[in-house]
Amino acid sequence: MRIDVVSIFPEYLAALELSLIGKARQEGLLDLAVHDLREFTTDRHRTVDDTPYGGGAGMVMKPEPWASALDAVAGDGDERPVLIVPSPAGAVFTQAMAYELAEEKHLVFACGRYEGIDERVLEWAGERFDVRPVSLGDYVLNGGEVAVLAMVEAVGRLVPGVVGNPESLVEESHSDGLLEYPVYTKPSAWRERAVPEVLLSGNHGKIARFRRDEQLRRTAARRPDLIEKLDAASLDKADRAT
Ligand code: ADE
Repeated sequence: MRIDVVSIFPEYLAALELSLIGKARQEGLLDLAVHDLREFTTDRHRTVDDTPYGGGAGMVMKPEPWASALDAVAGDGDERPVLIVPSPAGAVFTQAMAYELAEEKHLVFACGRYEGIDERVLEWAGERFDVRPVSLGDYVLNGGEVAVLAMVEAVGRLVPGVVGNPESLVEESHSDGLLEYPVYTKPSAWRERAVPEVLLSGNHGKIARFRRDEQLRRTAARRPDLIEKLDAASLDKADRAT
């Protein structure tokens, strides 16, 4: 998968050189490049922002540097890359969206700062990109960079080969609409707290039932909104009793 990130703070994205994503880049599973938006300015001051038409607080990112940067990363025209524009005004990022994006050949992330990017850039980019404004959640960050770190990690780990043991992707939070079950390791007794006995029993059926019950209990307590969204057909008789 090819990923291009455009930002006025390319150093912010240095974290993508670390850990699983960094390793996947070294192994050629992810071809990820970070671009400095200021390299696409033409004035002496390398200006990327200006005052908003209509007035109001803050500054707006100018269209010209964005157009040049997007021209440079768009590719040869055969493909239609997905252009993700992190914004609190976007659709909320979910695990389902991460799975969808992991199927794409080319993702471009446009990190806005200040009050955002001139809206005409998004309209114009629609001719060559599948443009998607995406929000990390209902709160406001100072710019798109932190959101890109989160999205690239969530998507990148779903690209085949990036996570060594793909089984670990199966039983994690949100993979089946529920939060994941609690996990324990040695020692079996610690500060007078014992690991739930069933986990030491070796009875795989009982362990699976215990874990499923814990998933349901946890989700009902912490995220009742997810229980509302569950497909009734995905629940068995024991689930309903939990
Ligand atoms: N930029 C500013 N706030 C954001 C958010 N909540 N999600 C994504 N990008 C943002």
